[in-house]
Amino acid sequence: MAGYFYARIFLNNPGVRDMFPVTMDVQRARLLGAIVTAVQSVDDPDRFDEYLRSLGRDHRKFQVVPEHYEVVGAALLEAMRTFAGPEWSYEYDQAWRDAYDVIARKMLAGASADSNPAWWHAEVVSHERRSSDIAMLTVRPFQQLEYRAGQYLSVEVPKFHPRVWRTYSVANAPRTDNTMDFHVRALGAGWVSGALVRRVQAGDLVRLAAPMGSMVLDRRSTRDIVFVAGGTGLSPIKALLEDLTTFNRTRWVHVFFGARNRDDLYDLASLQELAAAYPWLSIVPVCSDDPGWGGEEGSVADALARFGPWMEHDFFVSGSPNMVRGTLRALSQLKVPQTRIRYDAFSEH
Ligand SMILES: Cc1cc2nc3c(=O)[nH]c(=O)nc-3n(C[C@H](O)[C@H](O)[C@H](O)COP(=O)(O)OP(=O)(O)OC[C@H]3O[C@@H](n4cnc5c(N)ncnc54)[C@H](O)[C@@H]3O)c2cc1C
Ligand code: HEM
Repeated sequence: MAGYFYARIFLNNPGVRDMFPVTMDVQRARLLGAIVTAVQSVDDPDRFDEYLRSLGRDHRKFQVVPEHYEVVGAALLEAMRTFAGPEWSYEYDQAWRDAYDVIARKMLAGASADSNPAWWHAEVVSHERRSSDIAMLTVRPFQQLEYRAGQYLSVEVPKFHPRVWRTYSVANAPRTDNTMDFHVRALGAGWVSGALVRRVQAGDLVRLAAPMGSMVLDRRSTRDIVFVAGGTGLSPIKALLEDLTTFNRTRWVHVFFGARNRDDLYDLASLQELAAAYPWLSIVPVCSDDPGWGGEEGSVADALARFGPWMEHDFFVSGSPNMVRGTLRALSQLKVPQTRIRYDAFSEH
């Protein structure tokens, strides 16, 4: 179906092909998958309104114009009709068309209300390997890029993979010199993470797109905070911690930082430095597979359950989809209300 969907777009509008990566075999279902996910969430407008507006802002990096939404919407419906078989009905057709239109309108409204550049060029100013597959990078955008601590944005490494974008969380609160840190783990044969960890060097250029995400601090809340990070899921949590150091006096903050082994606790030393400077902060490192490790063992979710009670806390969870799922399950068993939990899973769907 994805093949058919893209063929409809590219045959009718050959110019659109240039917006997509050169090789699309690994990821040919990406856009289609994203649209189907968005359509399925259309009944929950409160939750997705701001997401869709920021996705529209983000899509300015592809130089998407309103006509493209019509082209993509028409290809979506044609693909649905062709592959749904005899059960497809007029009502389904209308419902998908309506839902797509609502989403497209929100994305377009987000894009047209944005006075920022469609993307930012940035120079890599430092690159440090922290373990066999983790690197910490600092980049400096050439123009001011405003974001909030806890947000993420799309990154492209044009030198190695032009037009391939992946999202990464910014690992620091906004700075006056405009620099931004990223913590990246190379995933198997992954394109962008592989390039960011193993190939990029200081002096290289990357492109960044509009900041997104609502995992930000509610400064009005007086509740204590628990941050739960798996691997490079620490990145947005580091930014939130830096943000807290600028104003927090009264909220106790716990960080549960989980990884497979000691090596993967790649930024523990700087967390411990922060904890030494701020008495409200405590750090609990957790290893799931490190014989001889003297600290907390098992998954971060296991470790959380050994501490607590957590009924009165605000929670922020960040990491791989598995880690986030496991932690959300544990929090629900610990009776933490869902409204107190914010999370970013490292996967779009
Ligand atoms: C909101 C959000 C924030 C994020 N923040 C961070 C962050 O701060 N730090 C971070 O490290 N990551 C983060 N991620 C994850 C990141 O966006 C990427 O998904 C990740 O880096 C992998 O991208 P990639 O291009 O390297 O892999 P892809 O090329 O997209 O590959 C993904 C998977 O497919 C496998 N694969 C690749 N090529 C092939 C092939 N030919 N055949 C079979 N399998 C293949 C790879 O091994 C990998 O497991 C975040 C994700 C989200 C959604
Ligand atoms: C309802 C409308 C749309 C939604 C909800 C949507 C959503 C998304 C999302 C979430 C992604 C990231 C997916 C991922 O990387 O896994 C994406 C990628 C992309 N979108 Fe859209 N999009 C929409 C319309 C469009 C339109 C009209 C265009 C222009 C032709 C477009 C061009 C792209 C491109 C080029 C990519 C990158 C695909 C890739 O890397 O293979 N999108 N879209």
